[in-house]
Amino acid sequence: MSLEFRGPGVVPLTLYVNGHETHLQVEPRQTLLSVLREELGLTEAKHGCGMGTCGACTVILDGQTVYGCLTLAIDCDGSEVRTLEGLARGQELHPVQQAFIEHDAYQCGFCTPGQILSAVALLEANPRPTAEEVRQEMSGNLCRCGAYPNILSAVLAAGEREE
Ligand code: FES
Ligand code: FES
Repeated sequence: MSLEFRGPGVVPLTLYVNGHETHLQVEPRQTLLSVLREELGLTEAKHGCGMGTCGACTVILDGQTVYGCLTLAIDCDGSEVRTLEGLARGQELHPVQQAFIEHDAYQCGFCTPGQILSAVALLEANPRPTAEEVRQEMSGNLCRCGAYPNILSAVLAAGEREE
């Protein structure tokens, strides 16, 4: 008797990624993060802890931030996904990206895409947050470099700019 290895099945998945309708075949076990990074080459969302504690994998799913590492891709069928790659308009950076540069809100940069996407989602829901609201809403994004004071300054400045 010969045993034949049969790979896991794949299922169709449609995502609207940064405004582009995207059709994929994915394994049911694949996370949204792995689909973005490995299938679509969108590597700004980072694989940090892989277990929902650091926020490096943050993306915006139908207007809400999610941890891509904890989100099954097949649960996102038909959803709109926004990643850092989709923020700038040509050469013009998103106001939050610009504010991060002006306020020196990063060191190694590993957490930065997730920080920026959390800030974008926060400001879209609450354009003029208080410092305490920013701290609270972005508490799921850790920065091992400790750039928190400058991240806070950048988010508050971007909020004022959005006015
Ligand atoms: S990699 Fe997803 S929360 Fe850390
Ligand atoms: S800038 Fe290095 S982890 Fe945040």
